[in-house]
Amino acid sequence: MLTDIRRIVRGLKVVGHTVMGWDIPIITHDRYILEQKIIPYFVKHQEFKKVLFVGCGSYTKHYKRWFKQKEYWTIDINPLKKIYGAKNHIIGSMSDLNTHFPENYLDLVICNGVFGWGLNDKKEVEKAFSVCFQCLSQGGVLIIGWDNVPERKPFPLETCESLGQFHPYFFSPLSTTEYKNLEDKSNTHIYSFYMKPTVA
Ligand SMILES: C[S@@+](CC[C@H](N)C(=O)[O-])C[C@H]1O[C@@H](n2cnc3c(N)ncnc32)[C@H](O)[C@@H]1O
Repeated sequence: MLTDIRRIVRGLKVVGHTVMGWDIPIITHDRYILEQKIIPYFVKHQEFKKVLFVGCGSYTKHYKRWFKQKEYWTIDINPLKKIYGAKNHIIGSMSDLNTHFPENYLDLVICNGVFGWGLNDKKEVEKAFSVCFQCLSQGGVLIIGWDNVPERKPFPLETCESLGQFHPYFFSPLSTTEYKNLEDKSNTHIYSFYMKPTVA
C-alpha cells in the first residue's frame, strides 16, 4: 500500500516536472557515482568527444547540459523516452547501433540500467555489445551499469562473448575496472568499465 502511494506520488512528480521542464534527479549511491564521479571525468577529458548515453528517463534528462561541449547522443527503444533525450536522439535498439553510426565513430558509450531492464535476450545483448565495439573508436570506452540481482540479471554478464573483444578499462577516479559498493551490500549496482584496444 505504502509502495503504491510512493509510486503514485513519484508518477505525479514526474508528470508535473516534465511539463514544467524541471530536472528530476534520483538521489542514490549508484546515481552519485554516475553523476559525480563517472560523468564529470569524461566531460573534463577532451579526447572523449562523441558520447552516446543508452536508455533515457526523467532523471537523466539533465545530462545533456553536462555534455553540452560534446557531440552528445542518446538512444532508447521506447519512443516515449525521446522527451528525455538529447537533441541527437535515436529511437531504436542498442543492438542496431551500427545502422546509426559508422565504425570507430564514438568515444564513449554509457549503458546504465539497460542490461536486465529490457536488453535481456542473450543474442540481443551479444549483438548490442558487438556493434558497440564496432562503433567505438580505438581507445573508446564502454561503461555498463547493471544490477547484480537475479531479477535484473538475465545471465552472468561475464559470459557475454562480445565483451571479450574489449580490454578492461582502469577508471582512475574509482581506482578500479569494476566498481561495486563494498560498504553497503544492499546496493547491488555495479559499473563495469571496458575499452576498445588500440591496434599497434
Ligand atoms: C531502467 S531505464 C535506464 C535509464 C538510464 N539509462 C539510466 O541511467 O537509468 C532502462 C531504459 O532502457 C531502455 N531500453 C531497454 N532496452 C533497450 C535497448 N535494447 N536499446 C535501447 N534502449 C533500451 C528502456 O526503454 C528504458 O528507457
